[in-house]
Amino acid sequence: MELKGRNVVVTGASQGIGERLAHEFAKAGAHVLVAARSEDRLAAIARNHNGSFLTVDLTDPDQVDGFVDRCVERLGHIDVWVNNAGVDTSAAFTDLDHATLRNVVRLNVEATMILTRDVARHMLSRGSGHIVQMSSVSAVVPFPGLTAYAGTKAAITHFSESLRLELSRTPIGITVVSPGPTATEMWDRIESASVDFTEPVLRRFRRLAFLPTLHPDKVARATVRAVERNRPHVRLPRRYGPFHLLAHLPRQLVTMTMAGVRLDVPVPAEDSAHPGHTL
Ligand SMILES: NC(=O)c1ccc[n+]([C@@H]2O[C@H](COP(=O)([O-])OP(=O)(O)OC[C@H]3O[C@@H](n4cnc5c(N)ncnc54)[C@H](OP(=O)(O)O)[C@@H]3O)[C@@H](O)[C@H]2O)c1
Repeated sequence: MELKGRNVVVTGASQGIGERLAHEFAKAGAHVLVAARSEDRLAAIARNHNGSFLTVDLTDPDQVDGFVDRCVERLGHIDVWVNNAGVDTSAAFTDLDHATLRNVVRLNVEATMILTRDVARHMLSRGSGHIVQMSSVSAVVPFPGLTAYAGTKAAITHFSESLRLELSRTPIGITVVSPGPTATEMWDRIESASVDFTEPVLRRFRRLAFLPTLHPDKVARATVRAVERNRPHVRLPRRYGPFHLLAHLPRQLVTMTMAGVRLDVPVPAEDSAHPGHTL
């Protein structure tokens, strides 16, 4: 998709990878709406990129419901939606309290699925659009100490790959981004919180050269390029490539098995001007 003049929404864009994504999309000529909880940061980022912002707490179901509509009201329509907001859990799984577990599932999984559902309907009714899911290498590689987080990222990758099959004959593109450790506050938190429990795992992974740290700009640039070229995956760093390929094999087999199967994807009633898409 040519990004010049397109409307792009990035969640979790007040810092880290999301802030760099906003920067790269704006550099490509898009109008970017940045969303998160920190109003001051969002306002500064929106100002720097001639964009706009909305505050939202995506762990609150009442704020998740209707958030796509708020964005459409602000922008007119949405061309690209980036589900980037996410939170980590770095501790022994049995030490996590219920509130922390609910929080990570609500933000990383529940909000992502509901926003994807709502924005996919909007895009189907318009006849175009692209959705980016910020997953992680921990979706395919088990990571003791990040157990709940890794589970949520596996859920998002697998959900998105099933959705890709459902939508494959429609004009909606999906890119699943799966970075390794990336130099942001989240990774700092994981490294500093891990002294007691996760440190032995990190030490072993480091010894095996398994934890090279990416710059968030690299993840952001590769993601924007993938949207421009309608690429299904961003997998960084390259040394993790074999893990992704092995984990993805059953999905590729199912994709082949689906050849010739046609699914009718209903076009939402809001806009009956566009004909239905079939799979
Ligand atoms: N860093 C890594 O090593 C790494 C590796 C692979 C994948 N990822 C994924 O990349 C994405 C971004 O991570 P990051 O490293 O940039 O993390 P980060 O620096 O901690 O930024 C997280 C972003 O999410 C927003 N956010 C957190 N809770 C929110 C909530 N309840 N409602 C709305 N927004 C919320 C934060 O903004 P506010 O606090 O202002 O709300 C912030 O903008 C995440 O999905 C993460 O899982 C990160």
